[in-house]
This record gives sequence, structure tokens and C-alpha cells, in this order.
Amino acid sequence: MIWSKISGTGSYLPKGTLTNYDLEKKVDTSNTWIVERTGIEERHISNNEETTAAMGSYAAEKALQSAGCSGDDIDMIVVATCTPDKIFPSTACLIQQALGIKPGIAFDVQAACSGFIYALSIVDKFIKTGSVKRALVIGSEVMSRVIDWKDRSTCVLFGDGAGAVVLEASEKAGILSCMLSADGRHKDILYLNSASNEYLQMQGNTVFRLAVNMLDQVAERTLAENNLTISDIDWLVPHQANIRIIHAIAEKLGIPMERVVQTLKHQGNTSGASIPLALDSYIRSGKIVRGQTLLLEAFGGGLTWGTALIHY
Ligand code: ACO
Repeated sequence: MIWSKISGTGSYLPKGTLTNYDLEKKVDTSNTWIVERTGIEERHISNNEETTAAMGSYAAEKALQSAGCSGDDIDMIVVATCTPDKIFPSTACLIQQALGIKPGIAFDVQAACSGFIYALSIVDKFIKTGSVKRALVIGSEVMSRVIDWKDRSTCVLFGDGAGAVVLEASEKAGILSCMLSADGRHKDILYLNSASNEYLQMQGNTVFRLAVNMLDQVAERTLAENNLTISDIDWLVPHQANIRIIHAIAEKLGIPMERVVQTLKHQGNTSGASIPLALDSYIRSGKIVRGQTLLLEAFGGGLTWGTALIHY
């Protein structure tokens, strides 16, 4: 059997940051409200050069370095983004060109904040069928360009950044299972219309309630179908949307917060980039190490949600 395994990770955060105190000067909010309700203290905001493709390229370059390979070794690029620079060419094609990666499969996946798990699952299947040997899976977002900076209920939540992993064929188990789902009946509680003058709209507390229920259920199902319990999981790697959502899910699953990856405080919600950013941060700092079992989970506009169970 062919498995796919993560052989390298990389990430990029824009140099510019925006603290809660900066936001206090823009909208009627306070550092205390934002920290208590979300857990966020600051977020990174891209400049004009830090486009979705540029940030994705920087993250991908680092992932290639850490995997010890080059663009010539990459057969496939999939980018999770809901903030592409262009409708087409895809961000994946722009990154392919920027890094001089040889011709191969390249496309974007749009599943809002669940995009990275969707992308990972797609690439896993290409690798498991033997049609692709090595791929880049990237999440890159410039959420700051689709946020209404006058709307205090959304502008305090989001940030920009990119994360990437190199996924490659392996004889040993890597990605054990991916579980994806979507329910378009919830299309109106979180959306971004395509017109360039429109902003992200969200019914925050409805999203909050649904996210906790859906993620708990899909995480429990993932564990049960793989004959595991939560004690077998070394790290829960949740989409970084709100510390209260992360706390609620951790509590429902019965996993202590010491085993829950948290990067939200200094990054905010970077949508499809949040999970690969979190993975790279914990791997580079030596907290996530080889041999550990990771449960990734995310939810986002659609609604979409999913998990990936990984032997790292
Ligand atoms: N500062 C101060 N007060 C605020 C702010 C702010 N930034 N934002 C809202 N408020 C006020 C509201 O106006 C409301 O005031 P009222 O009681 O006078 O009407 C009060 O705070 C409570 O508002 P709620 O929306 O009920 O606050 P809640 O506790 O639900 O927190 C939040 C809001 C943080 C948005 C939360 O609901 C949340 O995180 N939801 C999930 C969002 C999410 O995860 N989205 C991810 C998907 S994104 C994607 O897929 C691209």
C-alpha cells in the first residue's frame, strides 16, 4: 500500500502587525473585549507585495527546503484559498511559475477555512493511487482585503499569512484518514460575495454554535472509524478561529489544552492558512515530533468542515 506522509513544512507571516490597541483606534472595541471573546491579541497584515501567491511561494520554498527537495521533484500543487489574487490563473499556477516548478497538476481549492484539509485530502488520494509522488499543499490568505475595517464584529478576527507542506509517497503510514463534509443550507451565515467591493459577512454566534457541534461529531467519528480514542492523539491541531471554540471542542473531546496547538493569539484567524501555519510553528519549535499522532480539524464558510488524522 502507498501512503502519503508530510516530509516538510514552511510558513510565512507578513511583516506588518495590527494589535488590538491599534484596532481600538479604528472601531468601537477594546483589547479586553477582543481577548476575552476571541483569544486574539494581534494579527499580521500583508502589504501590496505580500500577495496570496507571494506569501504562498515563500511558505512553499521553506517547505521544499525542510523536505530536502526542489521544484523539479514536485508533481502537483494545490492551494487552499478563499482570497486568490486572480480568479484565474489559479494561485497554484502563479506559485508554480514563481518558484520555477516543472509543469504538473496545479489548481486551487475553495472551501473557506476548511480549505487546507480539503486540499490535503485531495492530494492524499492522488498519492495513494500512485499518480503523484510528491506534492505541495499550501494554504495562503489575505483576509485583510475582504474585511470591512469599519465592522467591529468581523475586523478583529482575521489575519493574513501562508503555510505549506510537502506531501510525498511513503511505504509507512502518514495520513491515516481524512473526513470532509459540507452543508450548503448554512450558506447565509458566513459568506463573501465575489464583487470586489463586498466584504465578508458573518453571523458570529450561529457559526460558533454550529462549529462546536460539527467539529465534535466529526472528530469523534474520525477516532471511532480508526479504532482510536482521544488518548491516542498527541496533538489536536484545530483551525484557529476563536479560543472559546477551541476550548469547547477540547473539553467535549476530553483532551487537555496542553495537547492542543494554539497560534491564534499572535495570528488571528488566517482561514485556509491557519492549520499549515500552526503545524509549521509547532514542528519548527520541536513541540510536534516524528512518530506523533495528530488530529487536524477545521470548519468554515459553506458551511464546510473536516478532519485529517496523521501519523507524523
Ligand atoms: N468589540 C466590542 N463589542 C463587540 C465587538 C467588538 N469587536 N463585536 C461585537 N460586539 C458586541 C455586539 O455588538 C454585541 O453587542 P450587543 O449585546 O449590545 O448587541 C455583543 O458584543 C455580543 O455580540 P456577539 O456576536 O453575541 O458576541 P460573541 O460572544 O458571539 O462573540 C464572535 C462574537 C467573536 C464573532 C464569536 O461569535 C465568534 O468567534 N464566532 C465564530 C466566528 C468564526 O469562527 N468564524 C470562522 C469562520 S471564518 C471563514 O470561514 C472564512
